[in-house]
Amino acid sequence: MMMMMGRGGANRVAVLVAKGLGSEVGAPNKWDCWVRGVYGGAVRNGSTLAVSENNNNKENVVKEEKEVMSYWGIKPSKINKEDGTEWKWNCFRPWETYKADVSIDLKKHHAPVTFLDKMAFWTVKILRYPTDLFFQRRYGCRAMMLETVAAVPGMVAGMLLHFKSLRRFEHSGGWIKALLEEAENERMHLMTFMEVAKPRWYERALVITVQGVFFNAYFLGYLISPKFAHRMVGYLEEEAIHSYTEFLKELDKGNIENVPAPAIALDYWQLPPESTLRDVVMVVRADEAHHRDVNHFASDIHYQGHELREAAAPIGYH
Ligand SMILES: [Fe+2]
Ligand SMILES: [Fe+2]
Repeated sequence: MMMMMGRGGANRVAVLVAKGLGSEVGAPNKWDCWVRGVYGGAVRNGSTLAVSENNNNKENVVKEEKEVMSYWGIKPSKINKEDGTEWKWNCFRPWETYKADVSIDLKKHHAPVTFLDKMAFWTVKILRYPTDLFFQRRYGCRAMMLETVAAVPGMVAGMLLHFKSLRRFEHSGGWIKALLEEAENERMHLMTFMEVAKPRWYERALVITVQGVFFNAYFLGYLISPKFAHRMVGYLEEEAIHSYTEFLKELDKGNIENVPAPAIALDYWQLPPESTLRDVVMVVRADEAHHRDVNHFASDIHYQGHELREAAAPIGYH
C-alpha cells in the first residue's frame, strides 16, 4: 500500500501532516469512503513512516529466512520485465497483462424479447435500486463493492462447465477458460479499486452476506437455465458500463479527485506511467463491455439450441 501511495497520495499527505491537516483530510464528507481510502490510510502510514520502515526491514529479514527453505526443490520464480527490472506482482505475470480495447461500442444493448430475457432484465433493474440507495454517488466504493459480486458468475459458470466436461467426457469449447478468465479479470478490478478505496467494517460484512446469497442463487440459476444466467450477467454488465460512465462524469466535474493510477493498474493494463484514475476507469469500463458481449453471446448460443462447447469461446477477450 505504501508503494502505491508513494506515487502521489503519500507525498501530498506528508505535506498536509506537516501542516497539521491530517485529521481534516480524514474527516468524513460525501466522498467519505473514497477520500479516507486515498488519504486516510496514507496519513496513518505517513505518521508512522520510520516505525513502518523498521518493521518492514524486520519482516524482510524473516521472509528471506523463510524463502531459503526449498525442501521440494521449488524456488519462488523471479521474472524480469522487458526493461530488465524485476516484476513485482506474484498475482499476475507479464504475459497475462494486456492493453484494453477502449474502442468497443459502449451503447450496445440486448433488447429483452422473451419472457426469460425480460425476467433477467428486470431482476438486474430491481437489484440496481437498493444499490443506488446504499451507495448513492460514492462511485469509488460502489465500484469496489460491486466487483466483489461481478467476479462470482464467471467462477460459478466455469466451475459448472468444468464438472460437466468431466461428467460427460466431452470438450468445453474453451468456455471454462473464458469464463474463469472473466472471473479473474473482475477480481483484478477489485484488486485495483481497493488501492484507492477502503471498505468499512459493515461493508465487509455486507460483502460476506451478499456473496453467500449470490453464489448460491447464481449456482442454482445456472443449473436450471444457463441461458437466463448468462443473459442476466449481460444486463449486469450493461449496468456496470452505466455506473462507470457516471463515475467518469464525477471525475470530470472534479467531485472525485483524479489521483494517479495505482501501480497494479499500470502493469495490468500496460498503461503509461502518467496515467490517472480516469484512465483506469476507462479500461475497466471497456472490460465490462467485453463481458457484456461474451455473456449475451453465450446466452444467444443457448437460445439457438446449441451448447456452449459447439461455438469456440472468445479466449483472451477481456
Ligand atoms: Fe468489473
Ligand atoms: Fe464485468
